[in-house]
Amino acid sequence: MILVIGGRSKIGSALIENLVERGEPVRALSRAHESPRPFPAGVESVVGDLGDVESLNAAMVGVKKVFLLCGPTPDEVAFNKNAIDAAAAHGIELLVRSSILGADGESPATFVRDHGMCDEYLRSAGLGFAIVRPNMFMQNIPENTMPSIEESGNFYTNTGNARISMVDTRDVAAAAAVLLTEPGHHGEEVDVTGPEAFGYDDVAVKLSAAMGRPVAHVAVPDDAVRSALAGFGLGDWMVEGLVGLFRDYRQSGTDGYAAQVTDTVSRCTGRDPRSLDGLLAEVQPAGASR
Ligand SMILES: NC(=O)c1ccc[n+]([C@@H]2O[C@H](COP(=O)([O-])OP(=O)(O)OC[C@H]3O[C@@H](n4cnc5c(N)ncnc54)[C@H](OP(=O)(O)O)[C@@H]3O)[C@@H](O)[C@H]2O)c1
Repeated sequence: MILVIGGRSKIGSALIENLVERGEPVRALSRAHESPRPFPAGVESVVGDLGDVESLNAAMVGVKKVFLLCGPTPDEVAFNKNAIDAAAAHGIELLVRSSILGADGESPATFVRDHGMCDEYLRSAGLGFAIVRPNMFMQNIPENTMPSIEESGNFYTNTGNARISMVDTRDVAAAAAVLLTEPGHHGEEVDVTGPEAFGYDDVAVKLSAAMGRPVAHVAVPDDAVRSALAGFGLGDWMVEGLVGLFRDYRQSGTDGYAAQVTDTVSRCTGRDPRSLDGLLAEVQPAGASR
C-alpha cells in the first residue's frame, strides 16, 4: 500500500492516477471528507492532517511506502517532520518527498529554505527516502498569470530577466511514480525541470501566440508585486513567500539556478518533458482570444 499525502494537489492527483494505472494499491490522505474531485475508483481515502500526529499514525497502518507533499504553509517544516517521524516509527520502507528546485536550508527565500530544512531532516531520519525537487510549475501560467493580464495586455512580475525551466506537474508526478515503484531509487534526489528555460518576456510571447492577442510582461519592483498580491487577499506569509521566491530567481541572474534544465523526466519516463507551448494549447485551443 502506498500512502499519498497531498493527493488533491496538482502533483498528488496526477501521481495517484499514475499509481492506479500501474496497479499499485493507493491510500490518499486529505483533510476534507468531501471534495468536488473524488479520488479514482479503488483508491482508499482517509481523513487526516499533517498537524495531527494521531491521524498520521492511523493512516500509516499497513502502508509500505509514502509520498509526502504539503502545500505552502508557515507550518511546513513542522508538518513535514510529523509525517517523517510517523513514517520512521511505522518502519516505512520508502518515503518520497516533494520539495523544490534549489532547496537550501540557508536560502533567503522562505519556500526554498523550508524545503531545504525538510529535506535535511528526511536525510537524517533513518528511513529509505527519495526526493523530487520540481522547478516552478508551468501550470502557474494558465492559473495565475493569464487571469492577471490586464485589458492592455500587460502583466507584471518581479522576476526581472530571470530564466526559469518551468515544469509540468504531470511530469513531476511521473518522475515521482518511478521513484516510488521501480527498484534502485532509494536515496536518489532529482531536480525536475521542463525542456527549456525562459523568462517572463518569453512567456508573454508564448501567451500572445496562444491567446491571439498582444501580451506583454512588465518587470516591476518587489513592492509593486507585494501590494498587488496583498490585494488578492493572500496572507502576509504567502505574499512574502511569493515575492521572495521571485526575488531569489531575479537575484540569481538570467541564467541562475532556476534556469538549469535536467534530463530527469526523460530519464525516468523515456519521453520528453511537456512544454509550456503544449500546455497553453491544451488550455487555450487554437489561439482563441479571451
Ligand atoms: N507552485 C509552484 O510553482 C511550486 C514549484 C515547486 C515546488 N512547489 C511546492 O509544491 C508543493 C505543492 O504546492 P501547491 O501550491 O501546488 O499545492 P496545492 O496544489 O495547493 O496542494 C496542497 C496540498 O497540500 C495538502 N495539505 C496542505 N496542508 C495540509 C495539512 N495540514 N494536512 C494534510 N495535507 C495538507 C492539501 O491537502 P487537502 O486535500 O487536505 O487540502 C493539498 O493536497 C508545495 O510544497 C510547494 O512549495 C510549488
